[in-house]
Amino acid sequence: MIFDVLTLFPEMFNALNYSIIGRAQEQKLITINLYNIRNYTTNKHKKVDDYPYGGGAGMVMQAEPIYNCVDDIKETYGYKPYTVFLTPRGKRYDQELAKELSNRKHIMLICGHYEGIDERIMPLVDLEISIGDFVLTGGELASMIIIDSVSRLVPGVLSTNVSFENESFYNGLLEYPQYTRPREFRGMKVPEVLLSGNHKDIDEWRRYQSLKLTYIKRPDLLKNAELTKEDLRMLNM
Ligand code: ADE
Repeated sequence: MIFDVLTLFPEMFNALNYSIIGRAQEQKLITINLYNIRNYTTNKHKKVDDYPYGGGAGMVMQAEPIYNCVDDIKETYGYKPYTVFLTPRGKRYDQELAKELSNRKHIMLICGHYEGIDERIMPLVDLEISIGDFVLTGGELASMIIIDSVSRLVPGVLSTNVSFENESFYNGLLEYPQYTRPREFRGMKVPEVLLSGNHKDIDEWRRYQSLKLTYIKRPDLLKNAELTKEDLRMLNM
């Protein structure tokens, strides 16, 4: 899977050189190419922004360096990768969208800054994504969130597929609580059923915990969750 990222701050992406995503890059399961938008300016001061037409506070990123950079990428690959623009006005990001994006082989991410980018970049954009209803100082952290959450769905990036079969949002529910050694910590005991070795009981307990946690913490998720008759019985619904 290839990610091409257009940004004014490529150094920020060093955060992806660690842990699971760092390893995935070393193993060439994913490739992250960073393009500094400033290198695609044509003026001698390498200026990337200017005042907004119509007035108002702040600066607006110019369209030209972005088009120049995209032209360069298009020339390298012979096509324009599927293009995502990170913006608070975009489609709300969630696990379903992460799954959809993980089916693509090549994604280009455009990170805005300041008061935004000249609207005339829109013909380049296939999808606008927002990572939540709040405003970041730039699209870099949002891009990193997309790269992290999509990459972990790429086959081979996680050690086993089992790791995401039961996790939060796998089937629309929150994950059940986990415990590890010791059996008792500061007076708090591991639930007896998890020590029983009875896998049917354990599965049932975990399903019930998932349902209960979702019902208490995120009841909005139950609307779209895949619930069985047995689930509804456990929830008394
Ligand atoms: N840029 C600024 N805020 C953002 C957000 N919430 N999501 C994506 N990109 C952004």
